[in-house]
Amino acid sequence: MKSFLVSLIALTASIGVRGATSDSIDWSAHQWQAPLPTDSRGPCPGLNTLANHGFLPRNGSNITIPIVLAAIKAGFNHEPTSLMRTAGKLGLLTTDNPDHFALEELALHGTIEHDASFSRSDLAIGDNIHFNATVFATLKNSNPGVDYYNITSAAQVMVQRLAEDSLINPNLTNTIKEFSARVGESGLYLGVIGNITTGVAPKKFVQIFFEQERLPLEEGWHRSDVPIDDDNFNKLTNAITQAVTEWAPSGPIVCPWVRLQPEGPVTLVPLVVGTDHPGADNS
Ligand code: HEM
Ligand SMILES: *[C@@H]1O[C@H](CO)[C@@H](O)[C@H](O)[C@H]1NC(C)=O
Ligand SMILES: *[C@@H]1O[C@H](CO)[C@@H](O)[C@H](O)[C@H]1NC(C)=O
Ligand SMILES: *[C@@H]1O[C@H](CO)[C@@H](O)[C@H](O)[C@H]1NC(C)=O
Ligand SMILES: *[C@@H]1O[C@H](CO)[C@@H](O)[C@H](O)[C@H]1NC(C)=O
Ligand SMILES: *[C@@H]1O[C@H](CO)[C@@H](O)[C@H](O)[C@H]1NC(C)=O
Ligand SMILES: *[C@@H]1O[C@H](CO)[C@@H](O)[C@H](O)[C@H]1NC(C)=O
Repeated sequence: MKSFLVSLIALTASIGVRGATSDSIDWSAHQWQAPLPTDSRGPCPGLNTLANHGFLPRNGSNITIPIVLAAIKAGFNHEPTSLMRTAGKLGLLTTDNPDHFALEELALHGTIEHDASFSRSDLAIGDNIHFNATVFATLKNSNPGVDYYNITSAAQVMVQRLAEDSLINPNLTNTIKEFSARVGESGLYLGVIGNITTGVAPKKFVQIFFEQERLPLEEGWHRSDVPIDDDNFNKLTNAITQAVTEWAPSGPIVCPWVRLQPEGPVTLVPLVVGTDHPGADNS
């Protein structure tokens, strides 16, 4: 089983969050509300949006892995995939709490949070938590002339964001781990907000998602009819990887991987062929 972060043996046990279909969501109980100043929000527009719609606690705190997995299923029809279980586990590494995190804690640089994001500054530049319109302009203005983003434009945005940040952040960290995270995050905005099969996402929907952290329900968005799972998600992220015309690791050499599961091999998904970067083996 491949995910874009690490290969993990799939848990076969049911996690008990199935059963939410688009019909069974009571959207009146999940209306968008702006967060209060005391609510915790973080660097992930997906989880912030789920909190703004009450799929996650609106206060953004006391979030456990089962809570996250139930929320992505209910709000996005995203299965509790190996990637999402891994993201949840990495989320817990950002806090001293044994079993829960707050959204803002996810901003701990180097765990999941990384440089050259699509809508946040690098930590070394300033604010790596809140939406930054200057940073987001690159994605926003991509794929000119049409009203959708797609696999090609997402790959171009990745290349362009790295080029921009490398001019202003001399310590930009860009190993295979950060690359893989950007690919996955591209797959999430294309596949969750757009179409998981085609990788085409209406620009208007993506902009509302990033700029307002709101699901564009009134504008016509609905949850993916097709459950988002490892299979369709990996197809999309593989296509994005193929479309990236240029990428090479740069910045501080750090071993990017942690071993998360006793029986799971720490195997890098071959996103980048031929790199001799230390991150490209089982280091
Ligand atoms: C299906 C659910 C999810 C969606 C749609 C989603 C979407 C996204 C997107 C599009 C980004 C890129 C933001 C940017 O580059 O500006 C992102 C970043 C991030 N996500 Fe999520 N995400 C999801 C689940 C998760 C989970 C489960 C976690 C951890 C518990 C997580 C933690 C993060 C973090 C820490 C970042 C910041 C990375 C960075 O840009 O530095 N996300 N997410
Ligand atoms: C946040 O909300 C959850 C769910 O409503 C609640 O259990 C938790 O105690 C709240 N946490 C804080 C810090 O207010
Ligand atoms: C919620 O999280 C806060 C902050 O970590 C913690 O102090 C509190 O005990 C937690 N509450 C519950 C019900 O877990
Ligand atoms: C927003 O991003 C731009 C471009 O990277 C940067 O110059 C600016 O300082 C950022 N703003 C904040 C508040 O971090
Ligand atoms: C993405 O859209 C652009 C503009 O219409 C187009 O040139 C490109 O071929 C599309 N990419 C894919 C993978 O369909
Ligand atoms: C550069 O990045 C590395 C890896 O993230 C970090 O350990 C180091 O503290 C950073 N140095 C500076 C000067 O920011
Ligand atoms: C994605 O696009 C395909 C092909 O156009 C279509 O059959 C499918 O219904 C779309 N799926 C979603 C979730 O919009």
